[in-house]
Amino acid sequence: MTVLVTGGAGYIGSHMVLALRDRGEQVTVLDDLSTGLQSLLLPEVPFVQGDIGDDAVLDAVLSDPSIDTVIHFAARIVVPDSVADPLGYYLNNTVKAHRLISACVRHGIKRFIFSSTAAVYGETGSEPVLESSTLNPISPYGRSKWMVEWMLRDTAAAHDFKALVLRYFNVVGADPQGRSGQSGRNATHLIKVAVETALGLRPHMTLFGTDYPTPDGTCIRDYIHVSDLIAAHLCGLDHLRQSPDGFSVYNCAYGRGASVLEVIDSVKRISGVDFTVLQAGRRAGDPASIIADGQALRRDLGWQPRHDSLDEMVRHALQWERKHSNLQPYSIQS
Ligand code: UFG
Repeated sequence: MTVLVTGGAGYIGSHMVLALRDRGEQVTVLDDLSTGLQSLLLPEVPFVQGDIGDDAVLDAVLSDPSIDTVIHFAARIVVPDSVADPLGYYLNNTVKAHRLISACVRHGIKRFIFSSTAAVYGETGSEPVLESSTLNPISPYGRSKWMVEWMLRDTAAAHDFKALVLRYFNVVGADPQGRSGQSGRNATHLIKVAVETALGLRPHMTLFGTDYPTPDGTCIRDYIHVSDLIAAHLCGLDHLRQSPDGFSVYNCAYGRGASVLEVIDSVKRISGVDFTVLQAGRRAGDPASIIADGQALRRDLGWQPRHDSLDEMVRHALQWERKHSNLQPYSIQS
């Protein structure tokens, strides 16, 4: 049994590969290295550089009869970029997922785990959001993922194919052992940006929006440590191997929110650096608050979070950034 990990050279995918290898699973990685890094790949893990939308690549990879599960991470992930380039997001996240799912059916792949997102909920109007809450995505990013959820639901109903959809809330932190972390250039995600600023890689950072209807006026998100997110995938993989369920959806989150100001405060406190934060208007596509109900994952899949602390998430992100920026010094335009 081999697990194919698409996007295995990326931030979350590389953590998945480490965790699968840690428990002795066979893994193959498919990644086009458009944002992933070769340095995050393990030399002993078979790696194919290629596009998940390319049928020839997919047919070659999936002709390995030992592959019976696909965990699909490869995607574009920046909400404001999706507002500026919706067609690029629908191509990468939706059209190419269709190619991948089709290839899975063609090759008799029976299990599929999909990285979906809290962005499918959009402005829900009530919190915490349950898997059964009404979906009202407000960005092309959220819609690009929601369409894939539907494709998987319908494919699972029509074929011998089981799909698990995991809706990630805000994934942060890094491998506690320092083997991987967020490594992309020109980062836009809050904790990565704040950590880079604390370490002097940026002269300052910008806080987008202080007039939201939240207690301190800044957006609230449900941050989850990447290692806990990966643990959810391992529970999900075990579930798919044992369960007769054809299709299921779970939120991946702790069920607790932190505001942008609380995150910045944590980064300042843990780094010991009082860096400059400029204030700007709201960023396109940002909902004021998204907090999950994460109980179903615990109840149904036996998931137990181990890194459920904002300060720990920040500490691991700082630890990785120090190591990573020493390996790859670069200056960032802010
Ligand atoms: N923010 C800043 N300054 C920055 C970066 C971010 O103020 O330099 C703010 C944003 O405006 C937002 C909050 O920090 O209010 C979080 O923004 P991120 O860019 O870190 O994350 P998003 O909430 O936009 O999106 C992330 C993932 C999506 C996922 C979503 C779910 O990128 O894949 O979380 O909530 F869908």
